[in-house]
This record gives sequence, structure tokens and C-alpha cells, in this order.
Amino acid sequence: MRQLLVLLTIVVFVAIAFYVNQSRHRSTTLHHHASEKEAAECLTCREREAERTIEELRSVAYLEQYVEDVINHGSSQKLGFAYGDMPANMADEKAAPKIAAYVATLAGRKPTHPEWVKEGHTFYVSNCGGCHGEDGKGVHGTFPDLTRNPMLGIEHRIRKATKR
Ligand code: HEC
Repeated sequence: MRQLLVLLTIVVFVAIAFYVNQSRHRSTTLHHHASEKEAAECLTCREREAERTIEELRSVAYLEQYVEDVINHGSSQKLGFAYGDMPANMADEKAAPKIAAYVATLAGRKPTHPEWVKEGHTFYVSNCGGCHGEDGKGVHGTFPDLTRNPMLGIEHRIRKATKR
């Protein structure tokens, strides 16, 4: 009887631990993974990605989140550029949302926080301009054009969403 009780306690404990872990996972901020490999490893995120509507994927909020994620985690999406992958942490994490606000304006979009654009531009010039160009137009075949609307990685996601 005592053994049964111990076993039951263990089962309950494991169940609680599993539940807590799951809900913590679900409550992390909405994000996509910069690399396909990372995304494939994260089932919850994949499900969340799949639920995204085309309207959401086209929103400026999604664009800003996408740019921020690429800055912080890099990009290994095999977008077809000779340089290959973009490394992670190309700017300070605190600067990333500001840079994202500026990058949104490159494609003529209105950022969620227009007050961040000026500072974002300064960070952009020193952290991103070397590869993507000061004008954001990239280098044909080598570095992607950030003035493109939608950006390549987002366009792929929209195409996938259209098919389902
Ligand atoms: C060392 C060169 C380099 C630097 C510096 C760099 N990038 Fe990139 N970036 C790349 C390359 C190469 C890719 C394409 C990677 C791929 O195929 O996934 C890329 C991809 C991107 C994409 C995805 C483009 C798309 O069309 O989907 C965004 C957004 C981006 N970079 C933003 C930035 C920002 C913002 C900064 C500055 C904080 C920055 N990058 C700094 C090389 C760079």
C-alpha cells in the first residue's frame, strides 16, 4: 500500500511538472524561429506558426518581430544569398526593436513605435549597413534587400499559409 502511494505521488509530480513546462512554453512571446532547423525542433511554435493568418503575416507587427528575431538569432533560412547565413547577435538586444522600427520604414511601412526610428537608424548604419547597405537595398545575390515588401522569409511563410 505504501509503495502504491509513493508511485502515485511520483506520477502526480511528473504530470504537474509536464503541465507547468507546457504552459510556460505556450506563454513565451510570439516569435518565429530564424532557422528552419530551430523551428522544426519546436512543435508548439510550428503549430502556432501554422495558425497565423495571411493578414497577420502581412502586418507591420509581424515584420518587426521577424526583423528582431533575425537580429537576435541570426538567419539560416537559405534565402539564396552567396554570403550564406547571417550570424546571431548582429546588434545589442535592446537596440533590436529600434532597428526593426527603422527597417520597417525602408519598405515604406509605418512602424508601431515611430519614436524609435531615429535611434534605430543610427544603430542600423553601424550594425547592418555594412552588409545590407546604408540604403537597405543589399547587394544583389550576396545580401538581401531589406526594402522588399514582403521580405523573402515572410513571403515564404505567406506562400505556405496560402497552400493550407
Ligand atoms: C555579415 C553580414 C550581415 C550583417 C552585418 C547583417 N546581416 Fe542580415 N542577413 C545577412 C545574410 C547573408 C542574410 C541571408 C541569410 C539567409 O539566407 O537566411 C541576411 C538576412 C537578413 C534578413 C532576412 C531578409 C529577408 O528577406 O527575409 C533580415 C531582416 C536581416 N538580415 C536584417 C539585418 C539587420 C537588421 C542587421 C543589423 C542588425 C543585419 N541584418 C546585419 C547578412 C548580414
